[in-house]
Amino acid sequence: MTGVLSVITCLDDTAGERLIHEIGSADHDIVARVGSAHDLIDVLRGCAVDGVVVSATRRHLTLEVLAEADEAGVRIVAVAGDDAERRYALSLGLFEVVDARGPWSDIEVLLRGGIAVSLGAPAQRGAGTVIAVWGPAGAPGRTTVAIQLASELAFRGRTVALVDADTYGGAVAPSLGMLDESPSFAAACRLASRDSLTLAELERIASRYASPRSEFWILSGIGRASRWPELGADRVTSVLSTCRQWVDYVVVDTGFNLETDEEIASDMFAPRRNAATLAALRQADHVVAVGAADPIGLSRFLRAHVDLLEQVETAQISVV
Ligand SMILES: Nc1ncnc2c1ncn2[C@@H]1O[C@H](COP(=O)(O)OP(=O)(O)O)[C@@H](O)[C@H]1O
Ligand SMILES: [Mg+2]
Repeated sequence: MTGVLSVITCLDDTAGERLIHEIGSADHDIVARVGSAHDLIDVLRGCAVDGVVVSATRRHLTLEVLAEADEAGVRIVAVAGDDAERRYALSLGLFEVVDARGPWSDIEVLLRGGIAVSLGAPAQRGAGTVIAVWGPAGAPGRTTVAIQLASELAFRGRTVALVDADTYGGAVAPSLGMLDESPSFAAACRLASRDSLTLAELERIASRYASPRSEFWILSGIGRASRWPELGADRVTSVLSTCRQWVDYVVVDTGFNLETDEEIASDMFAPRRNAATLAALRQADHVVAVGAADPIGLSRFLRAHVDLLEQVETAQISVV
């Protein structure tokens, strides 16, 4: 769909100048430029427009603004400078949120209603969704799918943390070109074991990954596979439940191995190599099971899928 859009802007200085310039360059009409929620409500009452572009701050965006726009049947897109602003918009129930550094085209798509944001009810604090990405041996593409999933969820305005819980070869950070990452997931696990993992600590140790389309948090994996004992089941469970309070979606890249024989063979309390994967699968609300589409990949997938069904009871499983 094309055509000239008439818009009202209510933006802070950081995003404002650039976006207003881009809107002009794209030949759209800026009907009014205002600087506060109060003025925005006044203007909305007086004129018919296609959309409103507003900074996701308390000064620019309020419940009254949303009510007024709903009343007038006008679409609103919020522009967030950071996660706090993003959360603020979401807390008001506005899901059309884009990154303040993103291009005008991202906003335009939402103003035209091109993307259906049908991700369910707004996430409550403490009720983030855990999605575990799993697949059998042989590199079927777990890490690739986990990264894409995180980046698409973030692009659709949700806060996201991508957690690398693969104890056989954590590859999230290197796949994103972050080569000297210290394993922040292991750090989170250690803090959790001392009951001192808070949201502030998570934001301190996690890295922020910015792609051209979206931004999300990363808790990177253990580079040296020999560090797997740091990722014990209780620790992983505890970190993931803290992450639920932190972000809307926790995407977990897991290992492939679901064997639990070693649990029987070894001491009950000894940390076990597959514990992180198993704990993530048990915590997950959704499991994305990834298989390779060649004869070996498929037979591996089908055999391991039987084990997967034994491990997860409540989660929804989608097959890729
Ligand atoms: N759909 C795909 N088609 C072709 N190659 C892929 C696909 N998904 C992943 N790959 C490649 O396969 C390799 C392994 O992918 P990765 O996601 O790291 O697998 P895993 O995490 O399951 O070990 C990488 O080189 C990746 O670029
Ligand atoms: Mg991987």
